[in-house]
Amino acid sequence: MAAKMATLSFLLLLAIVTCSEAKLGYLKETNMVFYMHDIESGTNVTTIPVAGAPNKPFSVLRFGTIAAIDDLLTKGYNRNSTQVGRARGIYVNSAVDGSDLHFLMSLVFTNKVFNGSTLEVQGSDRFFLKYREVSVVSGTGKFRMGKGYAILETVYLNTMTFFFPIKLYYTSC
Ligand SMILES: *[C@@H]1O[C@H](CO)[C@@H](O)[C@H](O)[C@H]1NC(C)=O
Ligand SMILES: *[C@@H]1O[C@H](CO)[C@@H](O)[C@H](O)[C@H]1NC(C)=O
Ligand SMILES: *[C@@H]1O[C@H](CO)[C@@H](O)[C@H](O)[C@H]1NC(C)=O
Repeated sequence: MAAKMATLSFLLLLAIVTCSEAKLGYLKETNMVFYMHDIESGTNVTTIPVAGAPNKPFSVLRFGTIAAIDDLLTKGYNRNSTQVGRARGIYVNSAVDGSDLHFLMSLVFTNKVFNGSTLEVQGSDRFFLKYREVSVVSGTGKFRMGKGYAILETVYLNTMTFFFPIKLYYTSC
């Protein structure tokens, strides 16, 4: 399965509750949906396994593998739709049966509204489940002192290509 994996594309559904320094004490919820494209093979690879279990090919689906990621975040489902930013960081496959990718990444925004701001996302991505929840531990810029959670939803899964769209929701002060 791992050897044949071509593309692992996520659409992230991120629901984040944040509260900025200036507005402590009152929460405003805004939902943001965008899509994370995790391309592991073919052209324009955005996820590269860089370390793993000794004497075995590195694969994000194998326990012990660490991958560097620089995934495109887009407004729409299509990879060519408007870019929102990049998801930069690492995955660590942290389940002995390979079923859990530890997410550790910065969402680096490049769109007009949040340009230059970042959100720090961390958590357990048990990617064989349809819905997973991960933490938003903090942020910078417009997300300073931010806090919340993200729902990762697999809306499409192709076992031949490992295309995992996930949507993101967003909430702020
Ligand atoms: C890969 O990137 C190049 C240069 O940015 C771009 O022209 C090309 O369309 C991309 N290919 C795919 C399949 O997205
Ligand atoms: C994105 O655009 C490139 C170049 O125009 C095209 O080759 C590719 O098929 C498009 N990708 C999708 C998913 O539509
Ligand atoms: C985002 O900020 C950079 C650096 O300040 C700037 O070059 C770019 O044009 C900005 N992008 C948008 C969409 O505002």
